[in-house]
Order: sequence, then structure tokens, then C-alpha cells
Amino acid sequence: MTELPAFYDDLEGCLAEAWRRLEEGAAHQSGFHAPALATIGRDGAPRLRTVVLRGVDRAARTLRVHCDARSDKAAEIAADPRVALHAYDAKAKLQVRIEGAARLHGQDAVARAAWTASRPMSRICYGTIPGPGTPLPAGGAYALPQDEAAAEAGFSEFRVVVLTAARLEFLYLARQGHRRASFTWDGAGASATWLAP
Ligand SMILES: Cc1cc2nc3c(=O)[nH]c(=O)nc-3n(C[C@H](O)[C@H](O)[C@H](O)COP(=O)(O)O)c2cc1C
Repeated sequence: MTELPAFYDDLEGCLAEAWRRLEEGAAHQSGFHAPALATIGRDGAPRLRTVVLRGVDRAARTLRVHCDARSDKAAEIAADPRVALHAYDAKAKLQVRIEGAARLHGQDAVARAAWTASRPMSRICYGTIPGPGTPLPAGGAYALPQDEAAAEAGFSEFRVVVLTAARLEFLYLARQGHRRASFTWDGAGASATWLAP
């Protein structure tokens, strides 16, 4: 049987492993690089999409992703900041689910720092005309900025989503017995518990 990891029966170790995997996902390609972000649709129904994890700050319990101000997700977060994020790494046999509140940053210091750190090929996406989600008469009936100077105009549409985790759920799959744990942070402080898988 596969050897069990050090965090297997260690509640705090499970939390540390979840943050470690998220940090790794933000740094480079891994199972946690492109999680799913859920928002609440304007009609109250759930909305889900893949996003790239751009940054993680475990001390602040925040995760950072980027989006276009004209996208549905930006409008949904502006209307209701409650979001959820899901990541699963099949190799690590680890699922992490996060729930919390998201804040949108545009045209501020947070957005400028993220924009400056972005690669030119990423910045170009924010200059799409017409905006994301607009119905098109043909698949290719949209335009992208043709050079870096034109791409700079996309900054006005660039938004940084900062998600602050209020709850993190950890699930590790093992033949010897799965391990599931829940971590919550609220006005009363932090709490953690094992859960039946
Ligand atoms: C691998 C992958 C990574 C993606 N990363 C992002 C991202 O970081 N930000 C983003 O807004 N959309 C990203 N998308 C596109 C979204 O999944 C989605 O199709 C698009 O943003 C429209 O979503 P919305 O209409 O719910 O706003 C990504 C899609 C894939 C397949």
C-alpha cells in the first residue's frame, strides 16, 4: 500500500498541506494551477468556471485571480461577493474547497501591481472588442490589441479578484481511509475539525 503522508492524521498538517498545494498552484503548473471559481448568478443560480490561480497569501488567507471587468463573474461578484473555489490534484489525491468573500480591484494599486507583473500575452486578453460574453455573428468576429501600446488600454478593464477564505475543506483520498477536515475563520476566531469523509 502507498505510504501515508505526514499530514495524514495531523489536522494542522492538513491545513498546511492545502495552503502549500495552493501556493504551488499559483507559482507554476500543477493540479492546483487552474481551479474552478463559483459565483452566485444574478438570477440566484450557481455559476462556475476555470480560472488561473495567480497568487496565494496563507497568512492573510487570500487567493488572487484575474478577470475582465466586462465578464459575468465580475458583475456577479460586484452584486454578491460570496464565492467558492474548488481544486483537485489527482496525483496528490487531494481536493480543496474554499468558501469566502471576494473583492474586486480595478484601477488601484493592487490592480496596477498585478498588471505590471502579468505577461504581455496575458494583458492582451483585456483589450478584446467586444467584451467577453458578447454574442458574435461568427466565432472569430472579435478583435485583440495588435501591439503592446494598444494592450495597455486593457488596464481599464483589468480586475483583480481577491478571495478571503472563511472556510477551507480538505479531502485526502487513501485506501487506508480518507481524511476530511474543515477549517473555519470567523469573528470568534479559527476552528478546525475532522469530518466523516
Ligand atoms: C485553463 C483555463 C484558465 C482560465 N483562466 C481564466 C482566468 O484566470 N480568468 C478569467 O476571467 N477567465 C479564465 N478562463 C476562462 C473562464 O473559464 C470563462 O470561460 C470566462 O472567463 C467567462 O466566464 P464568466 O462569463 O463566468 O465571467 C480560463 C479558462 C480556462 C479553460
